[in-house]
Amino acid sequence: MSHPSLYALYGHPLAASLAEQGFAVEACLVPEGERSKTLSMAARLYTRLARAGADRHSVLCALGGGVIGDLGGFVAATYMRGIPLVHLPTSLLAMVDSSIGGKTAVNHRLGKNLIGAFYPPRAVFTDVTLLASLPPREYRSGLSEGG
Ligand SMILES: NC(=O)c1ccc[n+]([C@@H]2O[C@H](COP(=O)([O-])OP(=O)(O)OC[C@H]3O[C@@H](n4cnc5c(N)ncnc54)[C@H](O)[C@@H]3O)[C@@H](O)[C@H]2O)c1
Repeated sequence: MSHPSLYALYGHPLAASLAEQGFAVEACLVPEGERSKTLSMAARLYTRLARAGADRHSVLCALGGGVIGDLGGFVAATYMRGIPLVHLPTSLLAMVDSSIGGKTAVNHRLGKNLIGAFYPPRAVFTDVTLLASLPPREYRSGLSEGG
């Protein structure tokens, strides 16, 4: 799961590499921004997973910043009562903060992160070279939040 722009940069080669190893990869892409962290977006992703035949042996890989990590984590925690989750953080904030600690969430109109669960990932793979494409503003935001 990722945003289209991040998938183009990093998801394609990752999917190709996983496919080479015999894994069936389904790319679930959601628009960028906090507005994607909703129950309705989670519901769309459940449909996507069910149509793709995802089961408890499927692994949800969250490739992105804190939005993808929180939304993907919430979907992984709740689809079929929980499927394995792997975080692939791409923003500084996600690398130093949101991918660690197992907090997942979506927003509600009455509050940010109002709905969620603690759901530890099976693994977190952090590659700091991915920060090369992170906009400077997002980098500074990660410095202040994670510092
Ligand atoms: N679960 C937790 O413990 C926890 C902790 C802190 C924050 N959060 C949540 O994290 C979210 C904010 O995360 P964020 O600051 O990473 O924002 P974000 O996920 O919206 O990412 C910011 C922007 O940077 C882009 N981006 C990310 N990585 C990139 C890369 N390598 N190259 C180019 N562009 C890249 C994204 O596409 C996006 O447009 C909030 O929803 C917040 O509630 C969760």
